[in-house]
Amino acid sequence: MAVGEVGALAAAGRRRVARRVPGVRAPPAAGRRGAVAASLGAPPPRTRPFGGDAWDEARAGARRMERERPNAARPEDGPGRLGPDSPRPADLDPRLMPGHVAVIMDGNGRWARGRGRGVGEGHEQGAESLRTLVKCCNNWGVDTATVYAFSMENWERPDFEVNFLLGLMERLLGAESAELHAQRVCVQFVGDLGRLPSQLRAEMDRVCDLTRGNPGLRLNLAVSYGGRQDIVQACARIATEVELGTLRASDVDEALVSDFLLLSKTDGREGEEHVKSRQRREPDLLIRTSGELRLSNFLLWEMAYTELHFTDVMWPDFGAQELYEALLSYQRRQRRYGARPPGA
Ligand code: FPP
Repeated sequence: MAVGEVGALAAAGRRRVARRVPGVRAPPAAGRRGAVAASLGAPPPRTRPFGGDAWDEARAGARRMERERPNAARPEDGPGRLGPDSPRPADLDPRLMPGHVAVIMDGNGRWARGRGRGVGEGHEQGAESLRTLVKCCNNWGVDTATVYAFSMENWERPDFEVNFLLGLMERLLGAESAELHAQRVCVQFVGDLGRLPSQLRAEMDRVCDLTRGNPGLRLNLAVSYGGRQDIVQACARIATEVELGTLRASDVDEALVSDFLLLSKTDGREGEEHVKSRQRREPDLLIRTSGELRLSNFLLWEMAYTELHFTDVMWPDFGAQELYEALLSYQRRQRRYGARPPGA
């Protein structure tokens, strides 16, 4: 079962949630358990080919981006500005590096509109920023990065944009997988992947298989992901186990809930203690760009004690320099987890 696929009860859970949470479409009632598990009650996958002026414009934008690579290295920023290939800056303490960084990559649309360009170009440039993030996290000693590539709520965007984003994802996975593998990055996906077009899912499976077990950065791409929906599917599966008698209600604790959430499926490196895996699911640092001060349904359970870093920079302008500033800000904080530090 691919990471992110859940069972019939999760579909039932979503039917309940769909009544309350805008943007979650209610799946049909279960007929046969297997059939529901396979489809997750999703609407038909979006396989319509791209077309029309908007797509041509986006493709032209992609070619322009390829030439310009705006955040690769900006001479106007002077020689001190960090780029994707910069080594870890000396004032970042490797011992204080966050093990897990989560990122809400926001502001692609505003970045593009501010330049009189189509939203597709914003997403294309956002992909360039993601490339930089991955390289730097990998080279600077971050263990795990979980990025919000496509939220549950993003399904409500215009068809053109949804198709564009999913198409971009498929294209990026095709174009970048060899490089990611060469960097020893381990790529995994979390979300309701059953809603995605089959070609994209096939590409996801291929990249997961290719990079499985790589010892470098764990890159979790949250696609068709929602934090509340994840908690609901975990509750539903736990309830089933209790009904079946394979779990007792008294077994339910924080560790158990964590083990039923989607990120638990990304643990998978051999020889690691389970307790460590659980800790690693919880981001140490969340970065959100574009000046918005919200969590937007991202990793709600996992971020109970995450340090938050908000910046006004739009995601397409977020490069190595901005990552460095976020990490430096993190390293200067004292994490207390609600307790009182000794002597205070
Ligand atoms: C938010 O910007 C960004 C997204 C909805 C998608 C994030 C996607 C990328 C960074 C592209 C590359 C990554 C993959 C894996 C395809 P927004 O469009 O909401 O910006 P706005 O709030 O300014 O409109």
